[in-house]
Amino acid sequence: MTASKPISVLGSTGSIGGSTLDIVREFPERFRVVSLSCHQSVEQLAEQIREFRPDRVCVGSETAAGDLRATFPEVGVCVGEVGLVRLAGDPEVELVVSGIVGAAGLLPGYAAVQAGKAIAIANKEPLVLAGELFVNEAKRTGATLLPTDSEHNAIFQALHGHAREHVARIILTASGGPFRDRPPTEFANITVDEALAHPNWEMGPKVTIDSATMMNKGLEVIEARWLFGLSVDQIRVVVHRQSIVHSLVEFVDGSFLAQLGLPDMRIPIAYCLAYPDRLPLSLPKLQLEALGRLDFAPADLQRFPCLDLAMQAARFGGSAPAVINGANEVLVAAFLAGAIRFLDITQTLQAVLQFWKVQQTHPELLTTPKTLDDALCADAWGREQAAALMNRNLTREPLPQAVA
Ligand SMILES: NC(=O)c1ccc[n+]([C@@H]2O[C@H](COP(=O)([O-])OP(=O)(O)OC[C@H]3O[C@@H](n4cnc5c(N)ncnc54)[C@H](OP(=O)(O)O)[C@@H]3O)[C@@H](O)[C@H]2O)c1
Repeated sequence: MTASKPISVLGSTGSIGGSTLDIVREFPERFRVVSLSCHQSVEQLAEQIREFRPDRVCVGSETAAGDLRATFPEVGVCVGEVGLVRLAGDPEVELVVSGIVGAAGLLPGYAAVQAGKAIAIANKEPLVLAGELFVNEAKRTGATLLPTDSEHNAIFQALHGHAREHVARIILTASGGPFRDRPPTEFANITVDEALAHPNWEMGPKVTIDSATMMNKGLEVIEARWLFGLSVDQIRVVVHRQSIVHSLVEFVDGSFLAQLGLPDMRIPIAYCLAYPDRLPLSLPKLQLEALGRLDFAPADLQRFPCLDLAMQAARFGGSAPAVINGANEVLVAAFLAGAIRFLDITQTLQAVLQFWKVQQTHPELLTTPKTLDDALCADAWGREQAAALMNRNLTREPLPQAVA
């Protein structure tokens, strides 16, 4: 009988966190939840405390922490970034699920790497900001980086047992999101609800909007280059509308290995949780004959300029990925809040990357982050530029309204 693995689920109230807890619920003898975290969803966290009985939790504010301490005196409650770093480095924890959204996951994710944990990395933004630092630190501490994003998990599985020098390139598949068939002339009227209606995946709002602009695939290219030690030119993106082939590795002899499955994040999450074991999940299984066909098409960079921008940032290197990530987080939040239009995301990102390229007054901004502070600084610069441009450009025309 396998001993139960002590785990920490950071971002337990989110989509990745919820899917992780589904696996724990199905295999209670395999995992023990040592800690959980949320930012604001304290009621949901309280339900999770009742069900999973963690030793410790972390929340975003002192007020929420006080309420939880009163309700659950047996649970250690910590707050904010310091608390998340504490949970990630907890000596009792063997595996950390990195399910926080955005750059907010950088310090806790890095703390898990510093502490030599196994880390199921769903939270891609920290790797975009500081991928090289993560990978180097993992080599130093022996931390195991377990790619959890479905595409990266597919590559991770396909690479298993193969020498890196035999890899020619990897191919990341992309569903194309909700606007893969919409004429670009109609993009100006895209509403928040439309952008949140992903055809294949149920995810948190930020990554869903990133999927609609295809910025998500660009961030994934940057994530993949660090996780798998590849050049940007060794990474291709192909649109595959069914999201069944989760990604492929092309080897030097012309063989391709892919990982297939239904689009359900519980499959890659379970793979990471149990790694190197596999869990007999009770999910519906892929029926190829029912599917009939699989389609593949080139990624249209005219339709999805955000993918092109992120690839450009990846090729520029230096702090460009961190800058574009920070700017994108601000813009997606503004779009979700109804403050800017869908196309403003792309246009503003283009301008921010242009500013970055001509940056003379802060030459240190152009170089590759050597510390987490450098990465956060570049991310903050991207945020400032995006916010300033947004405030300047806020369109006078009314924003498109959701269709009732
Ligand atoms: N969802 C997917 O299927 C999927 C697939 C592949 C990769 N990913 C990646 O996984 C990450 C999480 O995505 P998600 O879809 O699960 O996001 P989500 O549903 O929005 O959940 C985000 C989680 O992070 C917490 N959080 C938000 N802001 C925080 C902050 N400032 N400090 C600490 N915690 C914070 C949230 O707490 P509250 O609930 O309290 O706000 C929630 O628990 C993203 O990086 C995404 O790109 C997701």
